[in-house]
Amino acid sequence: MSFKDKVVWITGASSGIGKAVALALSTQGAKLIISSRNTEKLEEVKILCANPDMVKILQVDLDDYHHLDKLIQEAISLFNGIDILINNGGISQRSLAIDTGITIDTQVFKTNYFGTVALSKALLPYFVAKKSGHFVVVTSVVGKIGTPLRSSYSASKHALHGFFDSLRAEIHDANIAVTLICPGFVNTDVSKNALTADGTPQNTMDKGTANGLSPDYFAKRMLKAIARKKQEAVIGGKLEVLAVYLKRFLPRVLAKVIRKLDVT
Ligand SMILES: NC(=O)c1ccc[n+]([C@@H]2O[C@H](COP(=O)([O-])OP(=O)(O)OC[C@H]3O[C@@H](n4cnc5c(N)ncnc54)[C@H](OP(=O)(O)O)[C@@H]3O)[C@@H](O)[C@H]2O)c1
Repeated sequence: MSFKDKVVWITGASSGIGKAVALALSTQGAKLIISSRNTEKLEEVKILCANPDMVKILQVDLDDYHHLDKLIQEAISLFNGIDILINNGGISQRSLAIDTGITIDTQVFKTNYFGTVALSKALLPYFVAKKSGHFVVVTSVVGKIGTPLRSSYSASKHALHGFFDSLRAEIHDANIAVTLICPGFVNTDVSKNALTADGTPQNTMDKGTANGLSPDYFAKRMLKAIARKKQEAVIGGKLEVLAVYLKRFLPRVLAKVIRKLDVT
């Protein structure tokens, strides 16, 4: 599948993975709707794109999930259609469960789960009516395994797998695809923006994130998985990919390893 002239709507496009995916898609001739809360940063991304004329900005706050349906007609009208929605916007968390109040769990679920699900559900009738469409969801390796300091985050990403695996089965006959992308460590601001137990951002770079894949390399691999309409793609370093296999085939071994690992 070529992305030329495809209309792709990307959330979380103001930085990191979403920004890299937007730039890569632009070089391939896609028409882009780029979204996040920060429109100034989106303007900067637009200017960096190969074809800024084919990039529209639409402000989206995933936390405002009760009102996301109001954005759908506007999004569709920007290029007179949408082919692919890349649900990438999200927030991480770094704190022990014992220190983390339920308000943090709620906040993380609001952005990662309810925002993503609400936006996708709002667009779904349009995809069903035109009998084509593709939902892409950026989850995480911790959407497949649980690691320390990320209980709320890991749970929100696991929940996305449950929702979108069910949705994939429901919409298969309507010719609508679902691709779950599970990144390992990618060198972005995700750990700096991660919520700590008191709700403030961590503001420091984790070692794993700093040594992670470059966003540009990650974006190339992600676009290949989307083009092939893969159901799921784990894209990360050797250790993260190995962890997913261990969880599947040797879960007790993984459990022993995980509690000893430095996952900062
Ligand atoms: N980097 C990694 O190692 C890694 C690993 C696994 C999974 N992921 C996932 O990859 C996705 C992208 O993260 P990243 O690594 O690129 O981190 P990032 O640089 O922190 O980017 C996060 C993006 O999400 C947007 N966002 C956050 N809260 C939002 C909200 N309430 N409404 C709308 N947009 C919101 C941010 O934009 P604004 O602030 O402008 O709204 C930003 O564009 C996330 O879903 C993350 O969980 C990343």
